[in-house]
Amino acid sequence: MHERIYRKDYQASEFLVDSVDLVFELDPAETVVKAKMQLRRNPDGPARGGPLRLHGDELELRSVRLNGTRLDVSQFEADSQSLAIADVPERFQLETEVLIHPAQNTKLMGLYTSSGTFCTQCEAEGFRRITYYLDRPDVMARFTTRIEADRSSYPILLSNGNRVARGDLPNGRHWVQWEDPFRKPSYLFALVAGDLACHEGTFTTSSGREVALEIWVEPANADKCGHALASLKAAMKWDEDRYGLEYDLDIYMIVAVDDFNMGAMENKGLNIFNSKYVLAKPSTATDDDYEGIEGVVAHEYFHNWTGNRVTCRDWFQLTLKEGLTVFRDQEFSADMTSREVQRIKDVTRLRTAQFAEDAGPLAHPIRPESYIEMNNFYTSTVYEKGAEVVRLYQTLLGRDGFRKGLRHYLETHDARAVTCDDFREAMAEANDADLTQLERWYSQAGTPIVHANGVWHESAGAYTLTLSQSQRAMPKETEPRPLTIPICVGLLGANGKDIPGTVRTLELNEPEQTFTFENLPERPILSIGRGFSAPIKLEMKRSHEELAFLMAHDSDPFNRWEAGQELAKRILLGLVARVLEKRPLELDEGLVSAFRKVLSDPSLDGSIKALTLALPSEELLSQELSLVDPDAVHRARGFVIRELGLALRAEWMRTYEQHARGADAIDKAQIGRRRIKNRALRYLVALEAPDTIALAVEQFGAATGMTEYEAAFVSLVDLDSAETDRAIAEFYERWRGEPLVLDKWFRIQAMSGSPLAFDRVVALSKHPDFNLANPNRARSLLYCFAAGNPVAFHRADGRAYRFIADQVVELDAINPQVASRIVSSFNQWKRYEPGRSGLMKAELERIARWPGISKDVSEIVERALER
Ligand code: BES
Ligand code: ZN
Repeated sequence: MHERIYRKDYQASEFLVDSVDLVFELDPAETVVKAKMQLRRNPDGPARGGPLRLHGDELELRSVRLNGTRLDVSQFEADSQSLAIADVPERFQLETEVLIHPAQNTKLMGLYTSSGTFCTQCEAEGFRRITYYLDRPDVMARFTTRIEADRSSYPILLSNGNRVARGDLPNGRHWVQWEDPFRKPSYLFALVAGDLACHEGTFTTSSGREVALEIWVEPANADKCGHALASLKAAMKWDEDRYGLEYDLDIYMIVAVDDFNMGAMENKGLNIFNSKYVLAKPSTATDDDYEGIEGVVAHEYFHNWTGNRVTCRDWFQLTLKEGLTVFRDQEFSADMTSREVQRIKDVTRLRTAQFAEDAGPLAHPIRPESYIEMNNFYTSTVYEKGAEVVRLYQTLLGRDGFRKGLRHYLETHDARAVTCDDFREAMAEANDADLTQLERWYSQAGTPIVHANGVWHESAGAYTLTLSQSQRAMPKETEPRPLTIPICVGLLGANGKDIPGTVRTLELNEPEQTFTFENLPERPILSIGRGFSAPIKLEMKRSHEELAFLMAHDSDPFNRWEAGQELAKRILLGLVARVLEKRPLELDEGLVSAFRKVLSDPSLDGSIKALTLALPSEELLSQELSLVDPDAVHRARGFVIRELGLALRAEWMRTYEQHARGADAIDKAQIGRRRIKNRALRYLVALEAPDTIALAVEQFGAATGMTEYEAAFVSLVDLDSAETDRAIAEFYERWRGEPLVLDKWFRIQAMSGSPLAFDRVVALSKHPDFNLANPNRARSLLYCFAAGNPVAFHRADGRAYRFIADQVVELDAINPQVASRIVSSFNQWKRYEPGRSGLMKAELERIARWPGISKDVSEIVERALER
């Protein structure tokens, strides 16, 4: 059994590291790593006088020296997992030399190679795969790094901080020396070596310092860096304007690599990125890709303050840096693109992934109490719900209060490793506010439910709103206590305008509270939870007419969209019930007329229109059902899409034609144009009429930008026509040389609504361009299929479950971190009808028994099978 680590067991480190000097003799097969460390006992540590115990993982130890003297094997205990030395003085120098094998490192943690480039990934516990170390975030040291490598294969040698020296070595080798002036935890260490091209820029900070900006990529991709550089500059400027935060080194580097487990990593001065979040030009990247790059580049940049300058005391505090930094990148993106579109995207993501997680067997608070494998806790709860909890502070304190609190937090804790409590206390102190109750958001799992009940008192001209909160009790946890929940509301009059004086933020702190609005001129309509003011589920009786009214008039754009989604959701769920009862389906006229109104509203921007005209996904609908039958959900939703297509055919056609032509430019107007155009195309192609299919074929053939090309391809792959196979073949021939575009080819086929999707996925898993060892490729095919194609993944015969389980165990032997993300698709097995549920459980049990299964995957499947 694997060891479980508990938050309550935290103890300060017995030893501290003042400095580390690293030397890398790089070779793909066998790299020598020499570390010289100055250590001392921690005066604030648990004084036990015990041995020094360093972390390690798959290291081959060659030698150990203590204060210059080589230790013999009786003086230390070493295995591939740790190095322990019993007798050490108060202060000492430790020198170690280890061997590692970067080219064989398929887990992509520690030092590895990606298309011939050396790179590192150390968060959370990857540094111990490079050298023996106190690999915990509360041990912060000054690092220097000397890199030695073959000059012709690896002309570029990078590490954290400033480059201080370089020189040549015999045998065609050379070296570069880097020095990072800031103390940092080992998880922020980085090294890159390769034959890379640089896309350069500069940024002058508000205090007038010039910072060199360098984006390093494979030479063939040098023409795809402009957007990442522009995003970086925008993020640097935004953090100065919004929070007064300036960058602190003279150089900021970003390196793009093709093999990367996550999106990107904030290593001090040397970010390492999945190439997906760097490389873009209009012909290869979609509008969503562009926005993704802008958001991720900003996120990693923002970590320089919220994460690097002030870091986490232990990994249970992960949301301290991630929730806060996600909140910051969401706010940045809202300012760069459109606040309402950004909010809708963020909330949809939260509901799709996080609400499901919170309702399933892996539910955990944003600050978890225990874990087996830390990599499994980079979850949408820690990230997205964590960001919502940070947003609560801003909603309660206002933007200025939040800014003051953030600055106070960063000033009082600079260069330290702290906790979520430190953050909350700094926020409270700077604002002279009592925020103690917010602590519960960190310790309670589950999505809170708020029931709202409004009563109109005609004679008094008063409206009373009673709000009550409840939360599912988690097994093995104490009864949930009431949370602080800010609820932003407004009351609308019959003219659709907010009644003056009714726009408020209600603070719900008790199990139940009543709020009164007085002196109202008329019976109001309630708009509640504006801007999604808290990560909760609202329950309230509302008629379809009320929802349609809010959809047309609410002054809060988020709630306008929300009312439409709620209306569509209720209608769709009614149809799902009818499918299950085998009764004929009929589309509600209310939805058609609401859609018609939106379609013909000239004041709405294309992006908002497209989002408003999208139906809730099958995943979101399934969350509302006590026992999911994915076929019924798929049929009901497909029915509504076709009926809306038919009923509004002329309007969709007009919309399509009006927006058909424009430039490939990536700006707000063109993005909006493409979004509404492509939404219209989806509804039209769903009709499967020759003239509408022809539109997609034409768009696919003529598109010069990836957004329109991809959208046409998505529509065609959903069909079963001769055009489908032709498009699949053409796409491949055109893009087989561009890995990021080829990922789309795999993903779109994996997510297709066609009945052929499963067979295609099986065939694609044997395609010469499929590669389990490349995380982007594995995710594009397997994760996107299992998590994003419910009707195909949940086919009733269980063949897709078996296929994915087989792929998971094969991938687990290569890269457990990626395997464990994919296996999570089985987590919700108990929520399916008995046939599917039994088949999923059987696959989970088969995986659990698989010999040699990793702790990453076993933690997930064991938890899913519990209870
Ligand atoms: N620090 C993380 C990267 C990371 C995640 C390292 C998990 C090790 C394990 C980074 O700041 C991050 O959060 N990246 C996100 C993207 C971001 C925009 C939310 C990612 O990689 O998905
Ligand atoms: Zn992050």
